[in-house]
Amino acid sequence: MDIVYNLLVVTHLLGMAYLVSGIVVRWVGPAERAGKIMLWGASAQVVTGLVLAGIASAGLVGGEVNHMKIGVKLVVAVAVLVLAHIVWRRPDIGKNVFYGLTAATLLNVVIAAMWV
Ligand code: HEM
Repeated sequence: MDIVYNLLVVTHLLGMAYLVSGIVVRWVGPAERAGKIMLWGASAQVVTGLVLAGIASAGLVGGEVNHMKIGVKLVVAVAVLVLAHIVWRRPDIGKNVFYGLTAATLLNVVIAAMWV
């Protein structure tokens, strides 16, 4: 199970890279392409994150699971997903939605790395 879990962590990190690349694309240019990239990246984060949390909570891999941290990350990630959906459906919407998405994404990276 360790190899499956580690491959999921790799996918989770690639999903984050995809999400952040969508943010960079939007930052330097129009929203049309960026919306879809951010939506796929945000979806990947929620799906792979939930599976990772499920495997760890089931005790199939070693180590303690911080359920509070997982719960907060899930709430923030769902907010990112909703905002990505809005940017994707309405590329002409004001930039504040995009700024919120960027801040929430960075918040989840900080939580992932610093909340032990
Ligand atoms: C925007 C959304 C997200 C971002 C940017 C993100 C980012 C990250 C990063 C950078 C790591 C690696 C941290 C490390 O190993 O020290 C990580 C690990 C992890 N994430 Fe996320 N995450 C997101 C959403 C989620 C969600 C929604 C869940 C679960 C509900 C989740 C569950 C996990 C778990 C269980 C790990 C631990 C992997 C391990 O064992 O090291 N993540 N996340």
